Amino acid sequence: MVNSTGNNVLLSVRGLTVEFRIPRGILRAVDDVYLDIYEGEVLGLAGESGCGKSVLAHAILKIVDPNGYIKSGKVIFKENGREIDILSLSKEELRKFRWSKIAIVFQGALNSFNPVIRIRDHFIDTVQDHRGRVSSSDIIKESSKFLEEVLLDASRVLGMYPHELSGGMKQRTLIALSFILGPRLVILDEPTSALDVLTQKFIIRLLKKIHEKTGLT
Ligand SMILES: Nc1ncnc2c1ncn2[C@@H]1O[C@H](COP(=O)(O)OP(=O)(O)O)[C@@H](O)[C@H]1O
Ligand SMILES: [Mg+2]
Repeated sequence: MVNSTGNNVLLSVRGLTVEFRIPRGILRAVDDVYLDIYEGEVLGLAGESGCGKSVLAHAILKIVDPNGYIKSGKVIFKENGREIDILSLSKEELRKFRWSKIAIVFQGALNSFNPVIRIRDHFIDTVQDHRGRVSSSDIIKESSKFLEEVLLDASRVLGMYPHELSGGMKQRTLIALSFILGPRLVILDEPTSALDVLTQKFIIRLLKKIHEKTGLT
C-alpha cells in the first residue's frame, strides 16, 4: 500500500488484541487494533490514561507482561519488499530485531539505565550486543554524533553515571541511544510526560528536527 505522498507502509498492525489475566477475570487492554505506519511518517497516539497505548506499543514488539498474552492479530514489518511477521519471531530473532529495526523507549524508561554503568558503556554495550565486535572508539564517535544531535555535551555526558543526569538529559540520552543502531522506526511511549513543561517543549522540538533531518519514522 502507498499513501498520498508515495511512501510505503513500514509497519502494519492487523486486528491486534491483547488480554491480561486479572483476579476478576480477563481484561482486554487492546481490542482489535488496525494501524498502518508509513515510511517517514510521524504518528501520534492520543488517548486517556489506561486506554492501552503502552500495551499496544509493547505488543508490537511482542513484549507483554507475564500475566498477559497476545490473543490474536498480526504485526507485519515491511522492508525492501520483504515482510517480517514480528509476532512469529523467536526470542533471539526479536532481540536482534529490537533496536536495530524498531527502537522503543518505554514510558518511565528514565529509570532503565543501569545505575553503576557509565553512559558511554550503555552505548558500547547496546552496539556490541547487536553488531558484535565494533571498536569502542568507533562507537563513542557515533554516540557523540547522536548526543550532539539532542544538544548534549557528549564528552561530558559519556563519562557520567545515570544519576548525574537531570531528567531532561536522561530522556535526551535515551533518544540518542535509541537512534544508535539506525532503526527504521522509533516508538516513544510518552517521551515527555515525566518532564517539566519547558523540557517537554524542548524535546518535542528536538524530535521534530531529527525527523526533518533523517526522514525517520
Ligand atoms: N500486567 C497487567 N495486568 C493487568 N492489567 C494491565 C497490565 N498492564 C496494563 N494493564 C491494563 O491495561 C490497560 C491499558 O494500559 P496502558 O496501555 O498502560 O494504558 P496507557 O494508554 O495509559 O498507556 C489499563 O487498564 C491497565 O490497567
Ligand atoms: Mg502509557
